[in-house]
Order: sequence, then structure tokens, then C-alpha cells
Amino acid sequence: MSVRKPVNVLFVCLGNICRSPTAEAVFRERVIAAGLEEQIRIDSAGTGDWHIGRAPDPRTREAAARRGYQMDSLRARQVGPQDFYEFDVVLAMDNANLADLQAMQPADVTVTLGRFLDYASGAAVSEVPDPYYGGEDGFDQVLDLIEGGADGLLDALRERL
Ligand code: 4NP
Repeated sequence: MSVRKPVNVLFVCLGNICRSPTAEAVFRERVIAAGLEEQIRIDSAGTGDWHIGRAPDPRTREAAARRGYQMDSLRARQVGPQDFYEFDVVLAMDNANLADLQAMQPADVTVTLGRFLDYASGAAVSEVPDPYYGGEDGFDQVLDLIEGGADGLLDALRERL
């Protein structure tokens, strides 16, 4: 058993029904596979308030289920200033999410705030594109990007544990 404090990781997108809950589910699977679920705590939230309390988008859940990720129990919530005190690492899916988080960040916190894909080694893009208004293949592209980010993030966090 680790005597260290767990690292608390929060993934943030706009609606918290497509990208950030996918990141939560994929990263949780990686963390459990690595036996690190006591050391790394994971949550997700959205900058917007439209979908609070809702399950992830059915297209997101179906794409995730095809790869073995279970998302049915997740529910959307909105990120707020208090999250900067409760989480150690806050990761935005795109630049607009990051700008919103920077504007919300209290002055006295020491959180690591950044873009999720900055942890993906070899990713061609630095943002996870919003799949909400796009076609079905957008959900698989989101998963491809998020799987790369999750692997890189786990490697980076192992150094902090
Ligand atoms: P997400 O996708 O930010 O990845 O959860 C979206 C979900 C809903 C909306 C936009 C993006 N929306 O405008 O309702």
C-alpha cells in the first residue's frame, strides 16, 4: 500500500458527455490495468451546463463499448473554481476549454493545468476535436487520440507517484 497521497486527475471538455468522460473511462482502464487505482483518482467535468446529470452521448458510449470501455454509469457535471483545490492535474481537451479553465483558475492554487494531448507522444494534433455535431467516425477518432493521451499521461504520472 502506498503511503503517498493519491494524484487527483480531472479531464475537462465542453459538455462532459463526449470527450472528457471518454478520457475518464479510458484512463481509468489503463490505471486499473497498471494496479494504480489507489494512487490515481480520476474524474471529468464540462465547462458548459447544458448536460448536467446526463449520461454520456449514446454515440460516445457505443464507440467506447466497441473497444471494451464501460461509460454507462458516468454522469455529466460542470467544472467550477473548487475543482482547482480538489484536483492536482486538470487537463483540457481543446484550447477553448483550456482558456475557460485559465479564466476560472483561482490565483492561489498550484494545480497542473494543461492540454491532455500534450501528454500523447507522437500525436499529430494538440486538441481532441469536438465530435458532437460531426459524423460517426468522429467518435472513433476521439478514442484514438484519447488512447494515445492516456498512455502518455500514465507514464508521466508514474514519475509523480
Ligand atoms: P463534449 O462534446 O464537449 O466532448 O462533451 C459536446 C457535447 C455537447 C455540446 C458540445 C460539445 N453541446 O453544444 O451541447
